[in-house]
Amino acid sequence: IDKYAVFGDPIEQSRSPLIHQTFAKQRNERIDYQKILGQKGNFSASLDDFFADPNAKGCNITSPFKQDALQWVTELSPAAVDAGAINTIIRLDENRFRGETTDGAGLVLDLKHQDFCISNSRILLIGAGGAARGVILPLLEQGAKQITIVNRTKAKAEDLANWFDNSNVLATDFLQMASESSQPYDLIVNCTSASLSGQLPDLSDDVLSKASMVYDMVYLSAPTAFLEHASRLGVVNTSDGLGMLVGQAAHSFNFWRGYMPDIEPVMQQIRSML
Ligand code: ATR
Repeated sequence: IDKYAVFGDPIEQSRSPLIHQTFAKQRNERIDYQKILGQKGNFSASLDDFFADPNAKGCNITSPFKQDALQWVTELSPAAVDAGAINTIIRLDENRFRGETTDGAGLVLDLKHQDFCISNSRILLIGAGGAARGVILPLLEQGAKQITIVNRTKAKAEDLANWFDNSNVLATDFLQMASESSQPYDLIVNCTSASLSGQLPDLSDDVLSKASMVYDMVYLSAPTAFLEHASRLGVVNTSDGLGMLVGQAAHSFNFWRGYMPDIEPVMQQIRSML
């Protein structure tokens, strides 16, 4: 039986085993999928141990090991190089392992699933950490016209924009945004973890209220503070990050097992458990 796992710290909260088992059942396949607490400071040992078993075919990586894992693999996809982090390892043969990132593809899948047209859109990303970095290239590849990164610490947004070296990727901070009038955004994505602590990023109500769609990468049992705020300002089209979570898992699954599972029933199942 093929073995998979997700590594993180903490890891108890992870829904990846449930998601991947449900995907496998869609084709009556059996897989083994465990959650494993990664070793901080010696994460490569965690991966060495797991892949010592020839039945271990792949794994997912979550916080805080996404950069460490990138060092361990023997090859990287172009998307992984751009993201600077990986969330998926695919065993190619006994000693070759490819690092992939599917978070951005997961967001793209969810946006498409919700009939949002990325092509030609103007997108605002809030936050300049790994979560924002991972979605920039996939959004550009889908034809996004302009991506603006707004961050509390402007230098981090600038570093990120410079890394992409693309005139359609811009950087700013909340103060500068508030002082300039801008065209409405088609999509605003909260790529910060602020919602996990019930905080709101410092984005002006004016900018937020004019967006066609507002997305929060975080998902909770109730709408996040950010989405609730957007709704209160009159934004009709809001989404949390559950679809992105299931979407990134679907792309990982596809890399391992060669077919895209159906995300809709899995999303409904997890939603009902929140
Ligand atoms: P990740 O890899 O998950 O993106 P990260 O690298 O720690 O995590 O980055 C978190 C991002 O969220 C950063 O852009 C951070 O802003 P700073 O660079 O100014 O620290 C942003 N962030 C976190 N909490 C925030 C808050 N309450 N308001 C605004 N931005 C916040």
